[in-house]
Amino acid sequence: MRTAIVHPGADNLRYEIRQIVEVAKAIAAAGQPIRWENIGDPVAKGERPPAWIKEIVGEVARDDLSFAYSPTKGLDETRAYIANERNLEGGIQITAEDILFFNGLGDAISTIYGALHPTARVIGPNPAYPTHSSAEAAHAGLPHITYRLDPQAGWRPDLEDLETKVAANPQIAAILIINPDNPTGFVYPQETLAAIVDIARRYGLFLISDEIYSNLAYAGSGMHKLASVIGEVPAIAMRGISKEFPWPGARCGWIEIYNRDQDADFDRFARSLLETKMLEVCATTLPQRVLPKVMGDPRYYPYLEERVAAYDRRAKRAAEVLSAIPEIAIHPARGAFYMTAVFRHGALNLDQSLPATPSASAIIAPHLSPALDQRFVLHLLANTGICVVPLSTGFNSDLQGFRFTLLEADEAKFEILLTDLAAALRAYLASAASTGNVTRPNVTAA
Ligand SMILES: Cc1ncc(COP(=O)(O)O)c(C=O)c1O
Repeated sequence: MRTAIVHPGADNLRYEIRQIVEVAKAIAAAGQPIRWENIGDPVAKGERPPAWIKEIVGEVARDDLSFAYSPTKGLDETRAYIANERNLEGGIQITAEDILFFNGLGDAISTIYGALHPTARVIGPNPAYPTHSSAEAAHAGLPHITYRLDPQAGWRPDLEDLETKVAANPQIAAILIINPDNPTGFVYPQETLAAIVDIARRYGLFLISDEIYSNLAYAGSGMHKLASVIGEVPAIAMRGISKEFPWPGARCGWIEIYNRDQDADFDRFARSLLETKMLEVCATTLPQRVLPKVMGDPRYYPYLEERVAAYDRRAKRAAEVLSAIPEIAIHPARGAFYMTAVFRHGALNLDQSLPATPSASAIIAPHLSPALDQRFVLHLLANTGICVVPLSTGFNSDLQGFRFTLLEADEAKFEILLTDLAAALRAYLASAASTGNVTRPNVTAA
């Protein structure tokens, strides 16, 4: 090309959660069955959306208007339904005009970072969910700026680290939280949310709260949506149906904009999101028409409670099995359906490996990088067929570890998964002597 055509941020776009699939597929073709623990799609993992939800979808699909475009902001009646639900929960009160629909939160995320002023930055959690961190880094053409979630404190955010970085980087315009968090399953206590809102207020920032898992917080987790503590600080909350119904293939999510009347710049930014969406016409219509009927059904919340209770049980069991390995730090998730295990400092080295067939070994060999947790993940895949995601390369983290899911609905299979994972971890760690001290996680500052 006679002129540069690759965006300077292109190298920041990485989604290891799906990229590892290519390696896993090659290993499957070589005869090793794969256990897919890398991706957060409950349906692909075998959860069956309830028959009554399918009936509602079928009924709505028979109406010709479900095939039409919808207004750019989203269907009026659906936005009014969501605003009303939000207002009944207490906290900030909104109207349908504060809601904007997208083709899934993936679309909302790329629109938001894409619409930001080129020099404005959003600080996010570490470990980071790559759709946010990659989109933010690609927008800035620079590495994503993160604050630390502390594995030694059950993944509580390090508020000192957050404030220090906010103070030191005047280009930071917003703080991102993911609540409940992906990949850690952490649920932000109310006082932590309030402290983060306070930092935003004191430094003149807005907040982005990704709440796609907010209705999948476990009983007793203390889940509070940002709306309950936001006060007068400008903010954007993100919700969707991908994980809840679950219907990720519907590509349906929305943002709720809080306090746009408090700041003229924030108001202009919010309008630019709508203007961007107008260029794309609108979001998918069918799921928007279905949404109030499903969420308003008396069976909806009991159905979610049942699912969440199963994740909670599996989270506790996973923590019990894996915390018996001294080189691993792990905390049971309190929401969503992921857990993250962290290797203690010095537990990993370049000489460790697991036995594998010659073909599986040959497949992983070109992908083995200096990232020690990524090496473990590839050896685990080749040896057991268990496909998880490394923390350092998959979640933009300075910790060594891996994320797995709590989506295996067959309890017997889940138990075997944990047994095999624990056995592989022990064998891998014992395959070459550990170096250094194994008493604390490897948590160098971001
Ligand atoms: C925290 C978080 N936000 C957003 C998304 C994307 O959701 P959607 O299916 O609505 O694009 C995911 C998907 O895994 C997620 O985990």
